[in-house]
Amino acid sequence: MEAGVIRVLASRWQGSVLVCGKCSKKLSGGFGDKRRTPLAKLLRAALGLKKGRKADRGVVEVKCLGVCPKNAVVMIDAARPDRWMLVPAGADAGEIVTTLRGGDAAPPSPSRVEDGLKAA
Ligand code: FES
Repeated sequence: MEAGVIRVLASRWQGSVLVCGKCSKKLSGGFGDKRRTPLAKLLRAALGLKKGRKADRGVVEVKCLGVCPKNAVVMIDAARPDRWMLVPAGADAGEIVTTLRGGDAAPPSPSRVEDGLKAA
């Protein structure tokens, strides 16, 4: 049996973040004003990202990563796979972005986050 040809698609991603979807589901979202927003959606809004390969960065919900914290979501910056983050439910979007960037960048303004959430 002959296997198909591997095709390569171009992407604008400069990095990616993995977010445990099961953690988010267990919290029924867990973030945002009403704590109903999943971390992946909050992150996309905070970073001003669109979905898909045309975004500057990918935020991907994955299956259980085997850590399963209580009242938190596991998040991994794929550029720093040696450093898994447990983001507590209700954490501030700016704080999450700052942590993701290694603490060297200013968090986005709250209005930008809210605008992104409304647009999503
Ligand atoms: S449920 Fe998220 S790491 Fe297991």
